[in-house]
Amino acid sequence: MTYQTQTFDFDDAKAAAFANRFVGTLNEAALAIMTSLGHRAGLFDALASNPGLGSEGLADRAGVTERYLREWLGVMVTAGVVEYDPRDGTYTLPPEHGAVLTRAASPENMAVTTQFIGVAASVENEMLDRFRNGGGLCYHHFDRFHEVMAEDSAQLVVANLTRAILPIMPGLIDRLEVGIDVADFGCGAGRAMMALARAYPNSRFHGYDLCEDAFASTLEEARADGLGNLRLEARDLSSGEPLGPFDLICAFDAVHDQADPKGFLRIVKPSLRPDGVFLMQDIGGSRDLEKNIANPFAPLLYMISSMHCTPISIGQGGPGLGAMWGVETAQEYLVETGFASVALHRLPHDPLNAYMVARP
Ligand SMILES: C[S@@+](CC[C@H](N)C(=O)[O-])C[C@H]1O[C@@H](n2cnc3c(N)ncnc32)[C@H](O)[C@@H]1O
Repeated sequence: MTYQTQTFDFDDAKAAAFANRFVGTLNEAALAIMTSLGHRAGLFDALASNPGLGSEGLADRAGVTERYLREWLGVMVTAGVVEYDPRDGTYTLPPEHGAVLTRAASPENMAVTTQFIGVAASVENEMLDRFRNGGGLCYHHFDRFHEVMAEDSAQLVVANLTRAILPIMPGLIDRLEVGIDVADFGCGAGRAMMALARAYPNSRFHGYDLCEDAFASTLEEARADGLGNLRLEARDLSSGEPLGPFDLICAFDAVHDQADPKGFLRIVKPSLRPDGVFLMQDIGGSRDLEKNIANPFAPLLYMISSMHCTPISIGQGGPGLGAMWGVETAQEYLVETGFASVALHRLPHDPLNAYMVARP
């Protein structure tokens, strides 16, 4: 038997550039985790409302301990996020940076999304084991998954429903005003249905999700508000049983995580009225790795897929399609599960996802 050996020229400049780039990687990763912490502690909001304060004053306004805040500010100043004046020891968040890091900036607040780094890190030990031994994960393995997902969707989906997402289905807003039946399959916190229930009191809204704890606080809020046209229900949508009938079914980022994604889609058509419509939002990547290289979000999306979407599906006995199953596969699945027409939309407010409108 002969073996072929391949020799590579070692490019010193390429190696040095790569090592340098990795210094940047370490620093950006450090910034991401501290941005998540700063968001949760309200530090960017405190900085934005109190420009030019010292760490003592800022700690007071933010309600945090000065020593930890000063260390956190060290990250933010050296990373170029916050400006520091050493003459009087004061800190300022430039308004251009506040425009992507504060609650006032929502739905453009990118600090919200940095929380997924911590969510993924919370299962690193489990994933090390799964990489070696196989197997999947369940929702309870993650720290704060449903909470972070809900906060992210509040920006990406809920805030854009009536102004950007629903208008891709002509005439739908008018029908919502008159009164129709709407469902959200895999509704998570159920915030999309709650927002629509408030906006369209003549229509009825139903959210279904495997995890009751994901929507418990929304249900409480809806009850306290006396919102009579919203129902949120725990249900395993891989049971194969149709629901409804509904005029509109939505699935926001819920199909690829499933134990049986095709089984999930198979119950959609029989749950719709004949003139009903299915709106499916899913990650807008391609199933072909090489086509994702130019996507600026691809490493983040593959990371979330590796640490959450793929193991969650495998943990339910599923195929582990992963978030990057691709719009090509998604459209094929919709046709295979009985939809006569499938239209793919890319919306300017959401560079991560594709929106598919499928009709029976
Ligand atoms: C990525 S999250 C999206 C949640 C929500 N649609 C949103 O956009 O915020 C996927 C959701 O699907 C739900 N899910 C997963 N498997 C399910 C199943 N078999 N039946 C019902 N829901 C399921 C999860 O509990 C989770 O809330």
